[in-house]
Amino acid sequence: MTKDFDREDWASAYRNVEEELTDVEVFPTKGIIPKELNGTLYRNGPGRLERNGQWVHHPFDGDGMITALCFKAGKIKLTNRFVRTSAWEEEEQAGKFLYRGVFGTQKPGGALKNAFDLRLKNIANTNVIRLGDELLALWEAAGPYALDPTTLKTLGLSTLNDALKTGEAFSAHPRFDPGHHESPRMVTFGVKTGPSSTIRLMEFASEGPDAGQLLSERHDQFNGFAFLHDFAITPNWAIFLQNAINFNPLPFLLGQKGAAQCLSSGEGKQSKFCLIPRDSGAFAGEPPKIFDAPEGFVFHHLNASEKDGEVIIESIYYNDFPTIKPKENFRKVDFNSIPEGKLTRCNLNLSDGTISSSILSPQCCEFAVVNPFYQGIAAKYAWMAVAEKEIGNAPLQSIKKLNLIDGTSCLWSAAPRGFVSEPLMVPSKHNQKEDNGWILVLVWNGKRQGTDLVILQASDLKEQSVVELPIAIPHGLHGSWSTEQ
Ligand SMILES: [Fe+2]
Repeated sequence: MTKDFDREDWASAYRNVEEELTDVEVFPTKGIIPKELNGTLYRNGPGRLERNGQWVHHPFDGDGMITALCFKAGKIKLTNRFVRTSAWEEEEQAGKFLYRGVFGTQKPGGALKNAFDLRLKNIANTNVIRLGDELLALWEAAGPYALDPTTLKTLGLSTLNDALKTGEAFSAHPRFDPGHHESPRMVTFGVKTGPSSTIRLMEFASEGPDAGQLLSERHDQFNGFAFLHDFAITPNWAIFLQNAINFNPLPFLLGQKGAAQCLSSGEGKQSKFCLIPRDSGAFAGEPPKIFDAPEGFVFHHLNASEKDGEVIIESIYYNDFPTIKPKENFRKVDFNSIPEGKLTRCNLNLSDGTISSSILSPQCCEFAVVNPFYQGIAAKYAWMAVAEKEIGNAPLQSIKKLNLIDGTSCLWSAAPRGFVSEPLMVPSKHNQKEDNGWILVLVWNGKRQGTDLVILQASDLKEQSVVELPIAIPHGLHGSWSTEQ
């Protein structure tokens, strides 16, 4: 039987982060910190949700706040900082919102004050990754903000050694290819969208003295509007799912809605998988391959691989696009009225262009990951955040380990008062077994209204340690693990 969540517990995470701490040692209240875990866990997410009594319309409009948890020989130190974007600095000084948010936050003063203000506020709140000497705070519609990896001091917008133009879109979902048949690299993309859309696919060196150098790029144009939040890679392919979606910008222009609120389900349209050959692969320079995709909507993919003439991609599929309504209070969202994500596998046959799909797990899930060494090749295991109940939509309260071959699973639950975020899998250096290592996850603890770091054994999700952090972090987005310290 599932333990029901308390909405107040869940909603209590939506608050401003009030403090910025530097190198504060944090201690486990349960268990011990594994001595083998040496590196830094970086997390990003909205940390500023209210100004001058006005709340953001949707948490995704909140300014990015980075948390760094530095692990060294069984001890952890915490540092957290807001990303000092130019808009954050301006709004801090003004003490109120000066920009519209993509997810519906308006400047004070109603539609007239917002109409025809088409400036984008880069809020740097979606992901944080280490690339060479830089720590990058990512937000997909604009360029990355560089931070000092140790102090988290904002250094400013980065062009990645002139690889990016000012303001150029740069995805918040890079994929790190561990180097299955080439050198390790970060593969990522930017989208320029309109009546037709152009994907710029980029590969950067991710290790050694050249880390951060652009190694290759290509541009591919597709018909229609593209909403591309994530993608997946194999050694030969970069795989995109162009969701069937409509974009009607008029309410945005007139100051009535945020740009993302103008997206709607593209009835009568066909979603497409677009396979772009990677420059490091066997099909370099060839045109993309296009497949009709199953109906539904995808934000995130788990992983992709190649086998026997097929590309296999696992994605979190929603039945429909979850439209964001203008008058809805995000704290009161009716979970039953929005579709849940289900982990789904699609097999794309490269020779005859056919596709087959199957649901791997019907349980509401998000934020699914594999062991990072299995990025782009067949993985046996996935770890993901799931709802406590097995069917239907609800807040994410558990971590699930799923065997992708036989469907068996095990679970660690934070219910009824805990709410999980994206799990990260950190492999053990000493034991190369795929599921050997740890799962690191930040959990909103509704009972004490604060954030806990929970460390689980990846193999069986046995709780290894719980660390009660001295700051309260709203439900977050993405993060990464860096072995640099
Ligand atoms: Fe994402």
